[in-house]
Amino acid sequence: MTKDTNKANANESEIASHWREEELIYPSDEFANQANINDKNIKSNFTIDKFPECFKQYSDLITWDKEWDQILDSSNPPFYNWFVGGKLNASYNCVDRHLSDYADKAAIIWVSEQENEPDRVITYSELFVKVNEFATLLKEFCGLKPGDRVTLHMPMIPELPITMLACARLGVIHSQVFGGFSGTACGDRIIDSESNILITADSYNRNGKLLDHKVKADEAVEQASSNGTDVEKVLIWQRYPNKYSSSSPMIQGRDYSVNELLESYEGKTTPPESMSSDSPLFLMYTSGTTAKPKGIQHSTGGYLSYAAATSKYYQDIHPDDIYWCFADIGWITGHSYIVYGPLSIGATSVMYEGVPTFPDAGRPWRIAERLGVNIFHTAPTTIRMLRKAGPDEPAKYNYNFKHMTTVGEPIEPEVWRWYYEVVGRGKAVIVDTYWQTETGGFIGATLPGTEPMKPGSCGPGTLGIFPVILDENGNVIEPGSGSAGNICISNPWPGRMQTIWKDPERFINTYFKKYAKPESKDWRDWPYVTGDGATQSSDGYFRIVGRLDDVINVAGHRLGTKELESAALTVPSIGEAAAVPAIDDLKGRVPEMYVSLKPGYEKQTTIENDVKQAIATNIGPIARPAHVWVTTDLPKTSSGKIMRRVIASISNFVEVGDTTTLSNPEVVDKIKQQVQSAKIELNQVPKDIPQEIIDEIKRFGEDN
Ligand code: WT7
Repeated sequence: MTKDTNKANANESEIASHWREEELIYPSDEFANQANINDKNIKSNFTIDKFPECFKQYSDLITWDKEWDQILDSSNPPFYNWFVGGKLNASYNCVDRHLSDYADKAAIIWVSEQENEPDRVITYSELFVKVNEFATLLKEFCGLKPGDRVTLHMPMIPELPITMLACARLGVIHSQVFGGFSGTACGDRIIDSESNILITADSYNRNGKLLDHKVKADEAVEQASSNGTDVEKVLIWQRYPNKYSSSSPMIQGRDYSVNELLESYEGKTTPPESMSSDSPLFLMYTSGTTAKPKGIQHSTGGYLSYAAATSKYYQDIHPDDIYWCFADIGWITGHSYIVYGPLSIGATSVMYEGVPTFPDAGRPWRIAERLGVNIFHTAPTTIRMLRKAGPDEPAKYNYNFKHMTTVGEPIEPEVWRWYYEVVGRGKAVIVDTYWQTETGGFIGATLPGTEPMKPGSCGPGTLGIFPVILDENGNVIEPGSGSAGNICISNPWPGRMQTIWKDPERFINTYFKKYAKPESKDWRDWPYVTGDGATQSSDGYFRIVGRLDDVINVAGHRLGTKELESAALTVPSIGEAAAVPAIDDLKGRVPEMYVSLKPGYEKQTTIENDVKQAIATNIGPIARPAHVWVTTDLPKTSSGKIMRRVIASISNFVEVGDTTTLSNPEVVDKIKQQVQSAKIELNQVPKDIPQEIIDEIKRFGEDN
């Protein structure tokens, strides 16, 4: 069944949705019977008239030093406080409180990318020792105290969760920067968070190579100091203990080997700081529509309750499960669903250092078989990659999944079916979890034991979350209408970000301004704007169709167009730059850059590479554009705004659409000729693009 709107004058964001309705698939009785939630009426405890009290069930999963006395303070929207008056410590909740029942149970099983290296298994009692020793070091050697910020730039090694939990123990706010990001990107985040301590590692394995990571710390510190932020100490964990694996020299008086320092802290403990529920637990920087990344600030009490409860109810983690979230802790997924969620409920959380296909596409399934993983969590981009590189590999291994998750971007029904049938052997449930860095945890997903799955749809709002789709004028788009609009969340919830670090104005402007009644003190007048386009079918299930803002979702990670463009502009000859998404079979989208030269500059043969390099240096290799097109001019409106949808259409061989508002329409054909003939030559013409992706391309960059 195809649904079209064919509405005359339909607004850009009310694009028609052309998804075919997929069938519903029910969990097996065997799964449903063992699920943490198997009461089909559970949602009646989470109706809007039970809000916000319904979230007591979430806070009950946490051990509070002092019970809260007010569940939600919403008197100053959109700044809300959850579990007001409550006191707790996140590290205590993830470590200490499990010692009575689970002291010898593995908290973390870490797997090296090098297949011949042994796993590192850290039990809860060992985790307690390590977190305490390092927390004592941070307190005594670095002088850190509650409320201080510390930047982490760590790869996927067990010392990363240990470091996060040590910070949390002291009430110190950690800001982990994705290890694959450049030193410059890390430096910018040090500046914004005003961190004087950087914690990093000397090296890590990636795709068969031991990468020098410490070199990025030198760049980060330099970037920070050129903007007036002095990093006093750089603490460096050794990837291979007792051996320094980096060719970048240690800088006397600034750089310290953690492994050496720890010798003086053996067996030392430090009590967990009792923090108020609303004290920030961490910052996580994410891309937005301007060049400057936003420091998303998460609370201790609300966030931790939300991560714990969604891990228990939606990931369906039980005490004896072996749970593996195949993501990087440098992203929110890893914070909520490798570290805080699973550890707060006493689970065994598997961590893997490297890439999915090293040394071959059977690697994840070998790990799953060997460790007895029964809950598996990953992103569509990884699923696509594994499907392409080794479609028959899963069948060769004897693992046994009961539950699988997908996260980060829309999953095509075809890819979903491969995941379900081949990876899950038609038996594991799939939970398509829709959420964002800002939301702290899942906001759209099916309850695995009670709600059926639908390929390509995330399902309804999660417990206590009431999503609504609004059109440009703030009217509700009814379920089943076939139209897409802005998916918003009508109500506050405990896991939602508190604010943007040091920028409450931007918080309001980015997430609320579009629909809020600014004078109102009622949370009902402040819907949270996700920035995503979505449709809702008549059964209430949501389907996310993609970003409505200037953000490109590459392999599940957000890159702001402005961020890419300002990196390109660091190349001295570049006068103008525009970033657009190009469709990619594996990564969903990849950025392409259009640049033009400053007057007086000649096109050098190295220019494409210079731009790619500038982007890799400023942001990181994941942002490296697939193409850099040097053009004489870019299509602009009369006000001088680059019309990104025009070049996005060209890059993807989509019909360009209306160009009458351009001040220089003649450039369109020239660029089209240049780009498309090159792509035809390279055999890079996209095939069979679904209509909703065509719509996404055609409106790209139009909302802002
Ligand atoms: C954006 C958030 C949430 C952790 C990973 C990404 C997209 C996320 C889904 C999903 C369709 C999804 C949205 C969202 N997204 N999950 N299940 N189906 N799209 O976190 O970097 O903050 O990105 O990822 O566009 O806004 P993030």
